[in-house]
Parts: sequence; structure tokens; C-alpha cells
Amino acid sequence: MKTLTTITVAVMLSTSTMPLLADYSKDFSVADDPLYIKACSSCHFAYQPGLMPARSWQKMMLNLEEHFGENVVVEKQKALTEYLVKNAADFSNYKRAVKLIRSLPKAQIPLRITEIPYIMRQHDELLPEMVRGNPDVKTLSECDICHSGAELGSYSEDDINIPGYGPWDDDSFSLYLSHFKNDVGKFYNDLFITKVKVKGEIIAIDDHLITIKPANLQLDSDTMQIDIQHAKFKNGNRANLRPNSVIEVKGGWDGNHLYARKVEFDLNAKVKGQIIAINDHLITIKPYKMKGIPLNNDTVQADIQNAEFEDGNHTHLRQHAFLKIKGNWDGEHLYAHEIEFED
Ligand code: HEC
Ligand code: HEC
Repeated sequence: MKTLTTITVAVMLSTSTMPLLADYSKDFSVADDPLYIKACSSCHFAYQPGLMPARSWQKMMLNLEEHFGENVVVEKQKALTEYLVKNAADFSNYKRAVKLIRSLPKAQIPLRITEIPYIMRQHDELLPEMVRGNPDVKTLSECDICHSGAELGSYSEDDINIPGYGPWDDDSFSLYLSHFKNDVGKFYNDLFITKVKVKGEIIAIDDHLITIKPANLQLDSDTMQIDIQHAKFKNGNRANLRPNSVIEVKGGWDGNHLYARKVEFDLNAKVKGQIIAINDHLITIKPYKMKGIPLNNDTVQADIQNAEFEDGNHTHLRQHAFLKIKGNWDGEHLYAHEIEFED
């Protein structure tokens, strides 16, 4: 539940101090229409129009009598719909709105923000006990419970505070241990685990156990065994684990194994350019900017079979599209980890 007064104050603040707005320009444009705030924020958070496509708002506004079990009555329905449609994600230049639209198949008309792939992906690390099982949260739909800047359109990772868990910290060790408590059972609770950060080259991969040669740690042995069963991957994914890749791992060391919490790849190459050919999982790019790739390459061949799309997906790969790829250069190919489309 939200009182009207607090929202009005937030809106006044955000429009009277322009620099504040500019700071948030990467997220979503602020919901600043008094008509909208009056009509749509008495039961829940006043969602920014940029959180859904126009087609979703149109469909929702045509069926307010059956709005998630509520009969919502509004004045000036036409003006309200116009406001939502005009500021919808598909007409927004805000970075997150653009990503949100790209994540959504064109034929889909979601009626929930929390069902949009981009939003789902952002929250896939939250444990059930932080949301549904959390009496102070209960639902992901109340954005402003956790995002303290939500009313100003800011969802920055630095402004997240989950009731009962505190500020969100990606590297949080207690969180890591709570994963263990859930998934591996009591066994690990009795172990003495120390926090370790290690960087090294992958020597072998055997299902969820990988062996690396640590470059920054002195151990009794030259190699270290890492259990990646519960790891979160940054700038790549499990399929990107290959012998010779260099990775940095954070996790808990029990004297035998490192139980990885976070795996980050050491990527040596980057290219920005335009697609000139697509051949199954190999694409050819005419670069205008490269890093870590010899300059005598007029074109760059990228192997994208295990790449993750920052925004969009495979169907957005077409001739002449501009994109940015980060990955590993093996002397011949750019083995892509991350793909982002450029406008
Ligand atoms: C009488 C109460 C009420 C009013 C007024 C109301 N809603 Fe809702 N709305 C709900 C309920 C209940 C849900 C479902 C919440 C849940 O599942 O947690 C909901 C959900 C939503 C969602 C989906 C949130 C998600 O899960 O992603 C959107 C979007 C939404 N409302 C938009 C609007 C708009 C636009 C208006 C104004 C025209 C409005 N609501 C007015 C009760 C209301
Ligand atoms: C239970 C708390 C909680 C609720 C409720 C919640 N979020 Fe989040 N949200 C998070 C956390 C935690 C992250 C960061 C996840 C990570 O870094 O892996 C996040 C990340 C995000 C991000 C990406 C931020 C970034 O810097 O990359 C966006 C955008 C976002 N949330 C939007 C929303 C919207 C919109 C709603 C409501 C429909 C919502 N969230 C509801 C906890 C929440």
C-alpha cells in the first residue's frame, strides 16, 4: 500500500532537480503524470510506463474490470491509456527499456512486468525465501520494497535493500553459504570454509569439477580443484569453460576443493562492428573497433554458439546489424561470450 502524499513528494523532487533525473537516465523514465499516479498507485507501486510495451498497456486498459481479481474504475481512461502508450517501453530510449523490449518475442503481450524475460533474468538469483517466503516482501511485483530508487525510475544494483537480508551485494559470502545450506545440505555447515579468490588457467574439465593452475596462490600442489556446481557466471556461462581459458573464481575453500560462488572469465578480445555474413554459428563482422585481435584482420569471424545475449537473442542477428562482442581470440576466431547490439 502506498499513500498518495509520498509519491507526490517524490515526483516533485524529481522534476525540480534535473541533475537527479540525468543520473537515472539509464533506467526508466519517471512516472510523472498525476492522473496516472492517482488512478494506478493506490493498490501497488506506480509502475513506470517504460516497464511494458504499448500493446500490453492497451490490452490491460481494455479490461480493467478484471484486473488481477480487482475491478479497477478510472476517470479519463482514454487520456490514461494515451499516457501509458506514449511512454511505453517500445517508444523509450532509456537503456533498460530498450533491453526489455529486445528480450520479448514480438507476438507476446505480457500483462505482467514480472513475466518479461529481461525482468525475470534480472531476478533469477533471488532465493525463494527472499521473495515469496519473505513476510515483508511476498511478491516480486512490489518493486519499491527492494529498490529504494524505484519511484525515481532507478533500479541500480547499488540501491537494493531486501527486507530481512539487507543491501544486495553480489559477492556476499553469507548468501553463498545460504546456497549451500539449501542445496547441499547440512554437511557443509560443519566444515570450516575460508573465503578465497583465485585466478588461473583451466587445465581440465570434468562435469562440475574443473582443475586450474592458480597464478596468484601458493598451494601444496600446482593445481586446484574447483566445484562449480553452485557458481554464478559473469561475462560467460558454463559452456564457455574450455581448457586454456583464464578464469577468476571466488568461493569457499575447505582445504581440498574450492566451492565456487562466482566465476569470471578473463576475456582477451573485443570487437565492435557490422555483420556481413551469417553462417550457422559463425558470423563474419566488419569491425570498426577491435581490441586484442591483430589489426591486419579486415573481417573477424566470431563463433557464437555458446554466447549469451546481453539484450535480444539469435533472431536479432541479421545482415548489417551493429553489435559488440566480447570473448576470447584463439588466433583464428573470436570465441564469443557476450553479445550486445548497438543502435
Ligand atoms: C484496486 C486495486 C488496483 C488498482 C487501482 C490497480 N491495480 Fe494493478 N494490480 C492489482 C493487483 C491485485 C495486481 C496483482 C498483484 C500481484 O499479483 O502481486 C495488480 C497488478 C498489476 C500489474 C502487474 C504487476 C506485475 O506483477 O508485473 C500491472 C502492470 C498493473 N497492475 C498496472 C495497473 C495500472 C496501469 C493501473 C491503473 C489503471 C492499476 N494497475 C490499478 C490491483 C490494482
Ligand atoms: C525481493 C526484492 C526485489 C523486488 C521486489 C524487485 N527486485 Fe529488482 N532486483 C532485486 C535484486 C536483488 C536485483 C539484483 C540482482 C543481481 O544483481 O543479480 C534486482 C535487479 C533489478 C534490475 C537490474 C538492475 C541492475 O543494475 O542490473 C532491474 C531493472 C529490476 N531489478 C527491476 C525490478 C522491477 C521493475 C521490479 C518490480 C516489478 C523489481 N525489480 C522488484 C530485487 C528485487
